Amino acid sequence: MSSFKVKKTDPLFSTPLCLLEIENSAVLNKKLISESRAWRKQQKGANVSNQGDSWHSPDGLMTRSEPGFSEISKMIPQIAAQYASQINPRLEIKNFRFEANAWVNINRKGGFNTTHHHGSYHVSGVYYVKQPEKATGQSGMIELINSRFDHHIFSQIGGNAFAPSVKMRPAVGSMLVFPSTLLHFVFPNETDEERISLAWNLRFIRK
Ligand SMILES: [Fe+2]
Repeated sequence: MSSFKVKKTDPLFSTPLCLLEIENSAVLNKKLISESRAWRKQQKGANVSNQGDSWHSPDGLMTRSEPGFSEISKMIPQIAAQYASQINPRLEIKNFRFEANAWVNINRKGGFNTTHHHGSYHVSGVYYVKQPEKATGQSGMIELINSRFDHHIFSQIGGNAFAPSVKMRPAVGSMLVFPSTLLHFVFPNETDEERISLAWNLRFIRK
């Protein structure tokens, strides 16, 4: 009987989703929680995808001087560079500079984010600073939406590559990194606990 050998399977036109963990995040998160709450007290939020009791800070997180904000801001370009290098291992990252922005989201009871993307950038990420402790309903969950229309073909096979959408509740201290064009939304927070996340966008510009 003949046999065969797979030479290569190339994940063409994929949507790379990277889940990473910030080491020793408890100390950082403590700072980020108090800095976020203080920022919220000082400033009226922006109106973007946020609905209900959802505060979206202005975009200026990357230039703020608070220790937690500045610590995470320094990591964002490194994380984006690593993500881009995984997608294209031959990428010479030193030939690029970057432009980035970041902000804080505080969703209290009833707060959510409608479907959106961050598509004028290349890479986006969300860092989870505080999640409701109890997994109540869909509180704290993000849903990532497949914008291709061929997913019904693979519905029998299953798996995430061709799923219509993927829902997850990332743990505190973890960060999701994805292409900025990926559609997503955040479920309403049904709990009495705050959900705090920090989101960012970055574009690479050839020097
Ligand atoms: Fe978003």
